[in-house]
Amino acid sequence: MFPSHRPRRLRRTPALRRLVSETTVAPRHLVLPMFVKEGAADPIPITSMPGVVQHTRDTLRKAAVVAVEAGVGGLMLFGVPARRDATGSGALDENGILNVALRELRAELGDSTVLMADLCLDEFTDHGHCGVLDAEGRVDNDATLRSYGEMAVVQAESGAHLVGPSGMMDGQVGVIREALDRAGHSDTGILAYSAKYASAFYGPFREAVESQLTGDRRTYQQDPANFRESMREVELDLSEGADAVMVKPALPYLDVLRAVADRSDVPVFAYQVSGEYAMIEAAVANSWLDRERTILEALTSIRRAGANSVLTYWAVEAARWLAGGA
Ligand code: PBG
Repeated sequence: MFPSHRPRRLRRTPALRRLVSETTVAPRHLVLPMFVKEGAADPIPITSMPGVVQHTRDTLRKAAVVAVEAGVGGLMLFGVPARRDATGSGALDENGILNVALRELRAELGDSTVLMADLCLDEFTDHGHCGVLDAEGRVDNDATLRSYGEMAVVQAESGAHLVGPSGMMDGQVGVIREALDRAGHSDTGILAYSAKYASAFYGPFREAVESQLTGDRRTYQQDPANFRESMREVELDLSEGADAVMVKPALPYLDVLRAVADRSDVPVFAYQVSGEYAMIEAAVANSWLDRERTILEALTSIRRAGANSVLTYWAVEAARWLAGGA
């Protein structure tokens, strides 16, 4: 007449719940993406990402120090150039904003954190695509690979510990590995954005980097309807030498994340993207969600699905909430 199995027994007190909790989120699991804008005199707020800014070189350095002091696992850097062109030449220029900022951060922080750089042309092209275009205006895979190889070497020379190719060109990891090795940067690692979907959740990011894109990225990023394709993308990236792989976005793709975590023997990252951030902040602004609980629940879910590390715009704040925990 009474249930003999009572799962509620283990939920009765905070101490019992703490004892049986399966998933931890610690500051070291969080990576902070940061934007730095060439020529900015003051930090510029990104309206669709309340609380996130385009940094000046100076405020970037200060914010990076604060993040490292908060215990985050690393920083992922994005550059916003003052000028763009058809080939995204600012990305390959050692005096381009991303490379200058990398040098300054590496000088400031040394090896005290893990410096990562987004390796993609879209912030630097005047058409906003992640690669160079052919005569018909299509993204030219193999011509883009040559730029990525060069970009990787400049980023390594500027101080990146890990480069993060995010352009979804075929063969990008292999070409980057070869270019790095040939230039003597066999120690620089590749964090491959392996399973990256053509997602509406990148919307606010377009404002963050002042993207010039019209249209979409569906000829190179993945169809949200596809799962198996991600397994293939991860396999290819691992065979080409990826040191770690990423699934992106995070919360709408936890099934993909779980599968990638189960199948691969390298660290798996997940990117809680700009739209995931904006959604929660917008609901919080309306008092529809409890901010801290919602953010921590989302991060816990991403970890539970198998992510070693989570790129999140809340990294510093969450690290403070989590300090002293697991
Ligand atoms: C490409 C890149 C994008 C993001 C990270 N790297 C944009 C895109 O692929 O369209 C999105 C990150 C976010 O939305 O937070 N350089």
